[in-house]
Amino acid sequence: MSLFAKKSISSLLEEAGEGGNKLKRTLGPTGLIALGIGAIIGAGLFSITGVAAGENAGPAITISFIIAAVGCAFAGLCYAEFASMIPVAGSAYTYSYATMGRFIAWIIGWDLVLEYAVGAATVASSWSGYFYKFMHNMGINFPRELTMTPWDHVHVKGGKIIPEMLNGVANPELVGADHIHGIMNLPAVLVVVLLSLVLIRGTRESSLINGIIVSLKLMVVVLFIGLGWAYINTDNYTPYIPENTGEFGHYGWSGIIRAAGIVFFAYIGFDAVSTAAQEAKNPRRDMPIGILVSLVICTILYLLFAHVMTGMAHYTEFKADPTDKLAPVATALAHTPYTWLNQGIILAILAGYMSVILVMLMGQSRVFFSMSHDGLLPKYFSNIHPKYKTPHHSNLIFMVFVSLFAAFVPGSVVGEMTSIGTLLAFILVCAGVLYMRYKMPEAPRGFRTPLVPLVPILGILVCLGMMVFLPLDTWIRLFVWMAIGIAIFFAYSNKNADKKEADRT
Ligand code: ALA
Repeated sequence: MSLFAKKSISSLLEEAGEGGNKLKRTLGPTGLIALGIGAIIGAGLFSITGVAAGENAGPAITISFIIAAVGCAFAGLCYAEFASMIPVAGSAYTYSYATMGRFIAWIIGWDLVLEYAVGAATVASSWSGYFYKFMHNMGINFPRELTMTPWDHVHVKGGKIIPEMLNGVANPELVGADHIHGIMNLPAVLVVVLLSLVLIRGTRESSLINGIIVSLKLMVVVLFIGLGWAYINTDNYTPYIPENTGEFGHYGWSGIIRAAGIVFFAYIGFDAVSTAAQEAKNPRRDMPIGILVSLVICTILYLLFAHVMTGMAHYTEFKADPTDKLAPVATALAHTPYTWLNQGIILAILAGYMSVILVMLMGQSRVFFSMSHDGLLPKYFSNIHPKYKTPHHSNLIFMVFVSLFAAFVPGSVVGEMTSIGTLLAFILVCAGVLYMRYKMPEAPRGFRTPLVPLVPILGILVCLGMMVFLPLDTWIRLFVWMAIGIAIFFAYSNKNADKKEADRT
């Protein structure tokens, strides 16, 4: 029976308002929108957009952004209803505990680790690439072994990285090049440790830093769009949808849809707003505002950014180039007199990535805080720092976990794990809204998802469609992660949660 035990909404709200483990309510609507944008704009826009345009969609990358945005909008509307109905920390985990019972709640909470913790590791690995480049431009060269995971390697000749392939064939320059293997990604670890310490120090302070970084990041995006607009060469838009090469996913419509699955990563993060419900001053009104407004702002910026970028340079120029992770922005800027902006843009991108990592780490610690509060995880995770009032033990554990992932697992692997985990969470949230409308139609909702059941059903279908496009090994990793989670649930969590509930009554 306990598998399907549910938490009543009134008890959730009561717990959020009472008790010793209280989080401080400091965030208003602007703070929540900034939190959303801080979590959204990052590696997806500044790295992945160029690769997806070059390899899969061409200038039609804008259509891919629209498809991904549609999936996120449906899921965002469902998140907003839940967040306004059950405005407590823990996001999708808490919603599913109140609606679909303990087992599904555990599944989703465990799955969210892929979105938040593994997502933070993904952005940290990409941060390390830019950090290396920034220092290199200043004449400081880090040992390359300490900026890559043991699974990565590069070929270096005369101080320059030599690509393995050139136009699909082995690069003749490889002869005589040094072959360098990674040991660990040290800068990625340093950024994770630094931001975990900032989080432990307190949410208000973190939210101030986040506000500054978000402004900087928005400035770079707007500057790029504004300056680049004058340098659009409309010839670059023909053909708008390049003909498919005969290989599935390489241009044509299959390429556009595959690119949608890839640039989906760029939208991940708006739902992190919902994990801060217990820190919002007026969650019922402000949660939907934070989620939906940040999503709308980012969608508009992404479309403009992608449009300008593929107008400034021909899409074939954006093919993945292992020698230069900044390829898309730098490649586009090379067509303008503004190449001197590069170093400033890298700096803003570095800061921008930090706000993404910060929000993801915060979301993660809040989800585990809630799960521990419910007895599904040891009490350790819900201990609140006596002075800073933050779940510091959760922050510390994830500092170690995320650092290990960032140090030793390649960025592409953690990136795909993040996408599949997030898509699964979105599907469960859409299903939860449907179920709740049927089970508790009268429960008060500060915001109602429009056109139910159509919107949640479309949300499920679009997200499932994007999941299907992800590679098989990513699916296998998802199953393995979930199997570990289910084993822990039956060995510990279910019993401990029963015990905790018995103690309460
Ligand atoms: N949306 C976030 C990014 O693109 C995860 O970095």
